[in-house]
Amino acid sequence: MKLFDVYPLFDITPVKAEGCYVWDSEGKKYLDLYGGHAVISVGHSHPHYIGRITSQLNQIGFYSNSVQIPQQKELAEKLGKISGYNDYQLFLCNSGAEANENAIKLASFITQRKKIVSFKKGFHGRTSAAVAVTDNPKIVAPVNASPNAVILPFDDVQALEESLKTGEIAAVIIEGIQGIGGIHVPSEAFMTQIERLCKQHGALFIIDEIQSGYGRSGRFFAHQYTSVKPDIITVAKGMANGFPVGGVLIAPEIQPWHGMLGTTFGGNYLACAASLAVLEIMESEKLVDNAAKVGNYLIEKLKGFSQIKEVRGLGLMIGLEFEFPIKDLRNELLKKHGIFTGVSGTHIVRLLPPLSLSMEQADIFLSAFEKALATVAVT
Ligand SMILES: Cc1ncc(COP(=O)(O)O)c(C=O)c1O
Repeated sequence: MKLFDVYPLFDITPVKAEGCYVWDSEGKKYLDLYGGHAVISVGHSHPHYIGRITSQLNQIGFYSNSVQIPQQKELAEKLGKISGYNDYQLFLCNSGAEANENAIKLASFITQRKKIVSFKKGFHGRTSAAVAVTDNPKIVAPVNASPNAVILPFDDVQALEESLKTGEIAAVIIEGIQGIGGIHVPSEAFMTQIERLCKQHGALFIIDEIQSGYGRSGRFFAHQYTSVKPDIITVAKGMANGFPVGGVLIAPEIQPWHGMLGTTFGGNYLACAASLAVLEIMESEKLVDNAAKVGNYLIEKLKGFSQIKEVRGLGLMIGLEFEFPIKDLRNELLKKHGIFTGVSGTHIVRLLPPLSLSMEQADIFLSAFEKALATVAVT
């Protein structure tokens, strides 16, 4: 059997990783400014992470969600404390799309409405409801296309109000910071209006923090730069540093009933051990503060490059938009300087490194970036 060929691949085979570095099968070392697509939060192969998963595996690896799993409660308590959402409830699942799928389903159950508002350039995953509210027709199969998905212009309060006034909207979903769409930070004013209008018209406010959450922005959640408090928050990516985990944080007034949501693998022992290890490391190494410090340093320095049209982002979630296609620049960084970066479309470089990136590593990137830009500009 061969693999179903859906990914364009780099000709690189990583075989080892540590901290912010990755090594390929030929022994070449790479600085990871991509974090495996914003997933590596506490750094690769952290000893505490490895130790916690290993010791859990040596005890019990899996049982179903029909028994007591104290690690789930421990995780919910710790996440509540660290994120500032102590009084919320946690539903555990296995991926970002699944977290959004459940969040949307929950909003629909609670409001008994069908329609969901989302925004242009937004990405929420590839499952049925999540992809329907994602602004990319290329990944929406006919079976997913839905008249219940209302995709509105970003930052357009009037369009939002008109839509909510119909009384048909179950929820409004927005990313804490748009990731795949090219790193767009919603303004405090827009977020506040969404919150106000949702309350006024009986819709739930969902913030998708799958990419922007878990400390990446320099706050635990990107929306914590504003005063809003959503009804539902979705998380995944950095939550377990690569172990497949997703979560839905749910406001206390939303009442569950048995059978409302469910999953076979969600919240399994290993997923909880990996997620707890991440929170423990984030706490002991103050990684949210580090993301703010190193991220703001990078953003300031990058703003000094005249070749960049716009630098956007917060903390270690950074987008660099260029007037020219960035394919050559990315290749130069990767091949010549051994630096992984991310991309958005054809003209935007995305930086999503582990939250443990040091100032020295930021400087290594900046110096390579300067050289790579000079080469690309000449050729
Ligand atoms: C904001 C956002 N939401 C949802 C998803 C989907 O997550 P997953 O790929 O784990 O299903 C992603 C993935 O890139 C994302 O960036």
